[in-house]
Amino acid sequence: VPELDAAEVERWRAGGGELIELLGLARERLGGLAAVRIGPEPTVLVTGPEAVQHVLARKPDGYVKRSHRARLLIGDGLLAATGDAWKRQRRLLQSQFTGTGMRRYERRIAAAARTAAQRWAGYARSGEVFDVGEEMRRFALDTIWRALTGHPLDDATAHELTAVAAVVEVLPSLPADAVGARGQVAADLARIDAVARQAVAAAREREAGPEGPGLLRVLVDASDTYPEYTDRLLRDELVTLLVAGHETTATTLTWLYLLLDRHPSAREEALAAGPEGSPERREAVQALVAETLRLYPSAWILPRHAAVADTVAGRAVPAGTDLLVCPYLTHRDPELWPDPERFDPGRFTTPGGRPGRQGAYLPFGMGPRACLGTQFALRESVALLELLLPRHVPVFDSVPAGAAYGLTVRPDGPAPARLAAPSRG
Ligand code: HEM
Repeated sequence: VPELDAAEVERWRAGGGELIELLGLARERLGGLAAVRIGPEPTVLVTGPEAVQHVLARKPDGYVKRSHRARLLIGDGLLAATGDAWKRQRRLLQSQFTGTGMRRYERRIAAAARTAAQRWAGYARSGEVFDVGEEMRRFALDTIWRALTGHPLDDATAHELTAVAAVVEVLPSLPADAVGARGQVAADLARIDAVARQAVAAAREREAGPEGPGLLRVLVDASDTYPEYTDRLLRDELVTLLVAGHETTATTLTWLYLLLDRHPSAREEALAAGPEGSPERREAVQALVAETLRLYPSAWILPRHAAVADTVAGRAVPAGTDLLVCPYLTHRDPELWPDPERFDPGRFTTPGGRPGRQGAYLPFGMGPRACLGTQFALRESVALLELLLPRHVPVFDSVPAGAAYGLTVRPDGPAPARLAAPSRG
């Protein structure tokens, strides 16, 4: 695999730049498969659609996840699990998140969207300043909490679960071999564990929430058949779904509002596509989400480890190589996406507007380890936007200057706004 010149890496290091800048340079200079010496050994950056597809979908067993740091928070939950354990856990959860399993959550998603819309109506009446990012986090957390427990998220639990965001924030800076947590991280993990313990205990008592039994009940029922589903694994699965299922959706919706602030006509066009509730309007709103996920795929890098020696796109990759699949850079490849920096939801509604090639668009990953919650995330995003877009336009007091590239790619600061009356009915 061609490697980026050591002098370029030195210049980047001396300049104190972001990792994404170095990766962007490697892609620009060397193309869709490039080696970069970030650590002592070269890391292989995978951005070309062919190579992406190979690593994630065609040879997934050869390229494994090693989620050392994340395990501190999510333990053996689905996102980090491997081998037979992963297969069993995935099979059980998969049925809950597709087809008829998904239908069970429709009413809960709609209820969470209505609750958020009522809060926004309150902000519009009072004229108070609120943080759009915080609002989106609250909505996404409420939605996944309802799916898991059958209860709307109450204020006390919401407060305790701010610990999840706090741990996610510091995870990338912890040593890769961290086996235990200390200080604030340990305190935050204890708060998360307490919430999880309570929710698991309620599910064990076969308690159904006001919205019916939650997904946790399905896991508890499974523990009757599979001894592997100990209280520890139930906790890990619960925390995994909370983490994977809210941070990503919340940042996507926040980016969407920041993009609409710069491109107000995109909102008007989506609303003009058809009346409220029409399939045309829904399709246009979906395109807003899809284009936001192209520019800001919240899971911007997908790390893998080569378990065996292999050939990728004609190049030899030795066993033991660390790889980074990077949807963020694939989505900004000008050969796949003309004028890639331009926000243009029309790419997803115009025939031929997006590349037909597999591996050119992967906000939810690809292959067997692709996102479990794809449908859930899209439904909840569209449900909320269908309520908010016609009624409110946030006017930002200030907007974040750029992006922070941590576990997810997020706006690098708060997004305080007030609600003004929309310019159109
Ligand atoms: C995995 C993105 C929402 C649950 C993934 C992966 C991506 C992703 C890229 C694959 C990671 C890899 O290959 O290394 C997103 C985005 C979301 C979103 C962009 C929102 C816009 C959700 C939601 C849930 C969820 C709402 C739960 C309800 C999961 C789980 C996995 C996963 C459990 C691990 C699957 C496995 O390893 O078998 N997600 N996700 N995600 N996601 Fe999502």
